[in-house]
Amino acid sequence: MAFPLVALLFLVTARWCLEVAHAGRQVFDVTDFGAVADGQTDDSKAFLRAWMKACAAPGRPAVVVPKGEYRLHPVVFRGPCKGYMELRLAGVLRAPDDLAAFRGSHEWVNFAGIDGLLVTGGGTFDGRGASSWHLNDCPRKPDCTPLPVSIKLGRVRNVTITEVTSLDSKFFHVIIIGSQDVAIHRVTIRAPRDSPNTDGVHIQGSSNVRITDTAVATGDDCVSVGPGSADITVSGVSCGPGHGISVGSLGRHPGEEDVRGLRVSNCTLAGTANGVRIKTWRGGLRPAAGVSGLVFEDIVMRKVRNPIIIDQEYCPYSSSSCRHESALLPSVVKISDVKFKNIRGVSATQVAVKLSCSGASPCHGLELRDIDLRYVKRGVATESRCANVAGGVAGGTLVPPSCI
Ligand SMILES: *[C@@H]1O[C@H](CO)[C@@H](O)[C@H](O)[C@H]1NC(C)=O
Ligand SMILES: *[C@@H]1O[C@H](CO)[C@@H](O)[C@H](O)[C@H]1NC(C)=O
Repeated sequence: MAFPLVALLFLVTARWCLEVAHAGRQVFDVTDFGAVADGQTDDSKAFLRAWMKACAAPGRPAVVVPKGEYRLHPVVFRGPCKGYMELRLAGVLRAPDDLAAFRGSHEWVNFAGIDGLLVTGGGTFDGRGASSWHLNDCPRKPDCTPLPVSIKLGRVRNVTITEVTSLDSKFFHVIIIGSQDVAIHRVTIRAPRDSPNTDGVHIQGSSNVRITDTAVATGDDCVSVGPGSADITVSGVSCGPGHGISVGSLGRHPGEEDVRGLRVSNCTLAGTANGVRIKTWRGGLRPAAGVSGLVFEDIVMRKVRNPIIIDQEYCPYSSSSCRHESALLPSVVKISDVKFKNIRGVSATQVAVKLSCSGASPCHGLELRDIDLRYVKRGVATESRCANVAGGVAGGTLVPPSCI
């Protein structure tokens, strides 16, 4: 009996040493913590056990999720952790279909309070939204209860998500809130064009966020930049179908923080409802947020309905809430220093440039330079429309002619 036991111990130790030596870090494989990967059993407890062990380890510990299907109930991967964490996901994580499994939780996979995290490995977060999209009444009702977000980064720092896929979220795919130094790089985000509120990445109250070389095809905004966002980079993003790359919606709540410093460059939008957009609600109370220091540059539009649009009359509901007294007042959000440069391609509507600013706070410092947007119908010219644009410049190629 003694020999096999010694042999076994030796093998186990050897494997462990090899892993540590090979990867230069400690590995916490979820299947060693009880995850069964049969696509049926709730594996969340095993994931949390692996996370907590890794979180207490120094250096660069990795929680490893091998290939396979893991059913995961809502989980919070909480920090602070001792080292720089990695979640190496090769498998597919599946969210519960039944909303009851969320027990009031607003998100499915929640990374909270972590400083230093890498999520990678080629795997998939499958939100399994199709079974609940019909329960989402947010597109119609202002006071709706949102469905759960797939991936939340809340109060995190120094986080990179790369080489993973987010599929069919129930609500937003990724939300980044109250965080700094976050990179989303080479990520694939996908949901059907008619899936409601499946925004790709929503950023709010966060700074130094970079979304690069990422493909987003979804039913709502590919990227949306909400209040309190600063120093945001969106580059090498292909968007479509979807509602485009949007700043906003802003101006719905008093005391919202500003959006300042956004650079969107080297992006392609195809078949989207909007290209690059700033949207603010009508009405609203002061103090309102300001939007400034935005650059949209080197962008290709393929059959986009509103390639360049500032919309300060935003109200998506056809219901009474848009006819409410306050919603008839002009937006109080101030937009200034916004540059649109080298934006070309095909517009699916004739008004390719629409700068519809607020009578209560006109736009300042807009720039249109090297714009070449042709109408999808050959031989028909595109147009630009301006309202309440108080100052700006236009230069270079200007198709349609500038209204600034
Ligand atoms: C993020 O963490 C890595 C690994 O510990 C470190 O090398 C890097 O300097 C950190 N970056 C920031 C911005 O804190
Ligand atoms: C533009 O984005 C594509 C990915 O869509 C990337 O491969 C390319 O390197 C980017 N170019 C620049 C100049 O950033």
